[in-house]
Amino acid sequence: MRIVYVNGEYLPEDQAKISVFDRGFLFGDGVYEVSSVLDGALIDNQAHLVRLQRSLDELSIARPASDAEIEEIQQELIKRNDLTEGMVYLQITRGAAERSFDWPTDAEPSLVMFTQAKSITGSASAQKGLRVATVPDLRWKRRDIKTVNLLPASWAKAQAAEKGADDAWMVEDGHVTEGSSNNTFIVTKDGVLVTRQLSNDILHGITRKATLQLAAECQLKIEERSFTPEEAYDAQEAFMTSASSFVTPVIEIDGHEIGDATPGPIAKRLRELYIDAAQQGSLPA
Ligand code: PDD
Repeated sequence: MRIVYVNGEYLPEDQAKISVFDRGFLFGDGVYEVSSVLDGALIDNQAHLVRLQRSLDELSIARPASDAEIEEIQQELIKRNDLTEGMVYLQITRGAAERSFDWPTDAEPSLVMFTQAKSITGSASAQKGLRVATVPDLRWKRRDIKTVNLLPASWAKAQAAEKGADDAWMVEDGHVTEGSSNNTFIVTKDGVLVTRQLSNDILHGITRKATLQLAAECQLKIEERSFTPEEAYDAQEAFMTSASSFVTPVIEIDGHEIGDATPGPIAKRLRELYIDAAQQGSLPA
């Protein structure tokens, strides 16, 4: 049975408990990070911890542990669960308090962490490429903060599944914001790599940043700007990035085949470069 971490204790998952008054449960009042693990090693974890601090600061949530302590727990969970490939999830909430919309002044923040085994490098969907469907982006206006309020993203995925697609790309004001749990990219017919610019409208993906740096090293022309679903239908390639899937090709959007409806060479190359750099611990900082 998996060992999870809850507020200072390592416990079998069926014994791990948090309060029914935890504000993460009652208000979605918490933030999280997902770091990937390859060959038992954390990938780009420092960048995830920097973003975690930013999310906590934006919401004035106190930190229950230092970066060094968090990394120690991550390593301990990897060891105790024999994790070679997958993810370590961590969540910090404002803690348990009498239910009230007001932020409590005396709550202790809560820290929960667990591992998930997953074959990321051998993912069948990365081999085949994903079919995505666009859906309206119904989320709040601070998507740069990685909060646990994931119902709109989860609903977007359910709507995409109803349309027979593997994932959702979310659209606002006629432009793609991001995927349900990933950042989105297209390669235009002119060979330009396009991904939405950073703002409060999207999560500032850690994998997005590394991928853009790898693309720049390959001398690809890059434009950070919004694009419409129609521009994406017409693209020569499309893909998405996240810590739990790295670079994953997209072969169909709203029923429109992208390129020849197989994973494109640029997406495949960037995926290889990302995995190589991750395995060698040489991802661009
Ligand atoms: N999701 N955009 C959204 C909305 C996300 O939820 C994620 C990550 C990303 C990609 O960010 P990064 O490259 O830092 O993982 C973009 C994680 C993996 C999740 O919720 O499981």
